[in-house]
Amino acid sequence: MSNNVESIVKGAFIDNELVPVAIDVRVPVVDPTTGAVFTELHEAGTEEVDAAVAAGRRALEQGEWGKLAGFERGRLLSRLSRAILDNAEELVALESRDTGKPLGQAKADIAATARYFEFYAGAADKMHGETIPYFREFFVATEREPHGVVAHIIPWNYPAQMFGRNVAPSLAVGNAAVVKPAEDACLSVLRMAQLAAEIGFPAGALAVLPGRGSVTGAALSAHDDIDYIAFTGSPGVGEMIQVVAARRAIGCTLELGGKSPHLLFGDADLSLAVPAIVNGIVNNAGQTCSAGSRVLVERAHFDRLVGAIADAFGKLRAGTPEMNLDLGPVINQRQRERIERYCDRAKADGIPLLAEGRIADGTPSDGFFVAPRLYGPVDPNNILAREEVFGPVLCVMPFEDEADALRLANDSEFGLLAGVWTRDGGRAFRLARKIRAGQVYINGFAAGGGIELPFGGVKRSGHGREKGLAAMEELSTVKTIIHRHG
Ligand code: NAI
Ligand code: MG
Repeated sequence: MSNNVESIVKGAFIDNELVPVAIDVRVPVVDPTTGAVFTELHEAGTEEVDAAVAAGRRALEQGEWGKLAGFERGRLLSRLSRAILDNAEELVALESRDTGKPLGQAKADIAATARYFEFYAGAADKMHGETIPYFREFFVATEREPHGVVAHIIPWNYPAQMFGRNVAPSLAVGNAAVVKPAEDACLSVLRMAQLAAEIGFPAGALAVLPGRGSVTGAALSAHDDIDYIAFTGSPGVGEMIQVVAARRAIGCTLELGGKSPHLLFGDADLSLAVPAIVNGIVNNAGQTCSAGSRVLVERAHFDRLVGAIADAFGKLRAGTPEMNLDLGPVINQRQRERIERYCDRAKADGIPLLAEGRIADGTPSDGFFVAPRLYGPVDPNNILAREEVFGPVLCVMPFEDEADALRLANDSEFGLLAGVWTRDGGRAFRLARKIRAGQVYINGFAAGGGIELPFGGVKRSGHGREKGLAAMEELSTVKTIIHRHG
């Protein structure tokens, strides 16, 4: 694997080739399972950013990419989907090494990544416009056009899936995609760019620029020939991205995480609710934008419902990718310390620790492992109920009735997902329509699931929609052609 890794990281991927970076800056890549540096990425600087954006522009205006019909782009996406599946074993190994994910989760991620390309392959030739009745002597039609060169800045929590979620719809509508993966995890993304070149993507359609956010990300987002920015990551950086986009009056999509609530009523089917609630915070070690990190519980049933969650939580175990347990390590030492600080604070604030999973025997002591923890009851104004921890830490709090549950659910600066658990269908729909979130699940919860399902936030979770056909609308624009025929 190590030779292979060296051949993936030694440059920036531009015009279908891994090119050496002009100024040799290396960024260590750490294995979260062991804490050891296992390779170095070659950071793309301003010259590589310029070259990637220029290559995208050329591909659109002179190259083969801009000339392709929708079905031809779809065929390429379909071949890339196939190539991802054919190389799944290697991609799973890269992804779990880079992020520490249990192998089972990495496998599911690579399968989902292939599925993104499959979904948008089928949609690439189905972006229809409309005809609009106007004055009699006119014929008016709209068509969808790509934005042009799109910067996709993606995070480290689901590198491969984020690549699929961003790049597949972007290429499906005909943009040139310039991807800036996170410095913490970029291997699978660079490898999939190689696969795209191997299966015949025209030069310039796709570039990957590894490097730090403050260097490569900042240079890319501020580049004056970018037409649109799609960003997933922290609220602070997202707000900066929006300012940068505003300076050039271009659009952006921001996906900035959340503090997504479950609304758990006494009549819920616990055989469905408990595993989904636990998985919704433990999957990917809680490093999921759409993690369900608050559980609002009907007070009259609090002890029974919370007891069931606590039982399941106490059995959780963190381990290495090969152990393939409930969760792996978190991404880096900084994130581990950040999570531990929230837990220290909970202790200092006197919040009861209701259950704690454990770190399995035999995990490397320098790995970034965190034991999953369940806290409650948590005051809705406590920091643990308000801020995104981005780790396997769940908090529970009671509500009195439906109105109180709704008030607490919406009492957050975020609005990404929510899960309503009840057998009362009327109540479920009433709540689903009033909760301020981009997605509301009823009797289910799949953080990050559903390629077909439009996804995104309101409030400080961001704006714009990804996934589903909505992503293709977001990543394209409408042109209206008005023809006076007399
Ligand atoms: P981050 O927001 O710094 O990283 C996300 C991406 O943005 C990375 O590719 C990074 O290189 C890039 N970036 C960073 N600074 C940039 C800049 N000035 N200009 C352009 N691009 C830039 O997130 P970080 O620091 O890795 O994680 C901190 C917290 O952010 C987490 O604890 C979590 O709360 C949140 N987060 C949310 C994610 C989500 O899925 N919504 C994903 C990752 C982090
Ligand atoms: Mg950062």
